[in-house]
Amino acid sequence: MATTVPGLNGQQNGEDHNPDHGLSSLSLSSRTVHADDFLNAGQDVAPPMHVSTTFRYNRDPDKLRPIATLDPEHPAIEGHIYSRLTAPNTTRFEAILSDILKGPTLTYASGLSAFHAMIVFLNPKRIAIGEGYHGCHGVLDIHKKLTDLQKLDLDCPAEELQPGDIVHVETPLNPTGEAKNLKAYAEKAHSRGAFLTVDATFAPPPLQDPFLWGADIVMHSGTKYIGGHSDMLCGILSVNPKWGKDRWFEKLGMERLHLGSVMGNMEGWLGVRSVRTLEVRVERQASNTTNLVSWLNSALTSKTESAESKIVQGVLAKIEHASLQEADIKDGWLTKQMPRGFGPVFSILMKDESLARRLPSKLELFHHATSLGGVESLIEWRTMSDPVVDTRMLRVSVGIEGWEDLKNDLLQGFKALLAEAK
Ligand SMILES: Cc1ncc(COP(=O)(O)O)c(C=O)c1O
Repeated sequence: MATTVPGLNGQQNGEDHNPDHGLSSLSLSSRTVHADDFLNAGQDVAPPMHVSTTFRYNRDPDKLRPIATLDPEHPAIEGHIYSRLTAPNTTRFEAILSDILKGPTLTYASGLSAFHAMIVFLNPKRIAIGEGYHGCHGVLDIHKKLTDLQKLDLDCPAEELQPGDIVHVETPLNPTGEAKNLKAYAEKAHSRGAFLTVDATFAPPPLQDPFLWGADIVMHSGTKYIGGHSDMLCGILSVNPKWGKDRWFEKLGMERLHLGSVMGNMEGWLGVRSVRTLEVRVERQASNTTNLVSWLNSALTSKTESAESKIVQGVLAKIEHASLQEADIKDGWLTKQMPRGFGPVFSILMKDESLARRLPSKLELFHHATSLGGVESLIEWRTMSDPVVDTRMLRVSVGIEGWEDLKNDLLQGFKALLAEAK
């Protein structure tokens, strides 16, 4: 294997934003397993964990290049220097992410620190944003203390946008799982010289590629599906390769150096371990979800008096998930933008708040916990962590268990609630 000296993503110059390394014909899983092969310098099959924060300079005095002589946008080109800039495990992780997300990619200490870094970088006067994850609104409130940042409605008329503004779309949406039409938002933003930024946390590869539909920057909370095991915090920003000409990626990298919001070495190592299995996990989670949602929805809407539908109709008022967006599926954009499944999170509204509060304790296979994306199924009485939602709502993050086991668990939970009400 080649022993390229790793800089930012192992890239050697600003033009080489998405080094192919001969991977372009390979499947997603082949890429998650091999996209970092070019950084394999030792004999290890599983990458070793590097814990050093600082790295020795070249021993050959003639090769020493003091910082003032380095290209400020490529400080790590000679190898790692200090782990706030780059570190071996994170660099490997970023090499895989840059390949599979199809744009040069940086990681951050958390999803929110990635969102913060993106707002600092684009520094918009206005941001059109909908509901979605409440934490992102918390970040914007902090920015409002420092700038005149103004929030617009996501569906505001295009005329309200000006060059340099942001249209920020979270899709599918937290907590409902509803999907949005990225192409339409890209057209609106770009018609006014604004940028489209996409929080694609709920639909990682292979479910959605926001760059195909015009996104300028894609963010993920890598804590969710990319990490996939509920054991690492991670944020991700990928830049559309079209911005290579303006060196967005290098500039973001330099800003991250000073924001200091990098992942730890353990997280970089866990990231590589985890992303290897992304496709198999997410495909299974997405198909489990489609099966569960379809079962729940037919039981809820069934006119026959089957035992299952009586139980479901006794406790449930509503289900939300992209697979139920019939008009959008008929229109065609939804299946074009999400051809391999609609995302493994959905939400249910119970008939009353007490049912929502008590359901999680009746379940055996679903943990009652916040967050999502891990191999284990979670359910959350959403009002526990989201101050603005309907108190009858539960958010479900579907794991990789057998879907019929999950179905049976929900069914026995519903039955137990009905038995208590008697
Ligand atoms: C859609 C979305 N974006 C961003 C975040 C924030 O990510 P993190 O918790 O990694 O900071 C979350 C967290 O739940 C999320 O659901």
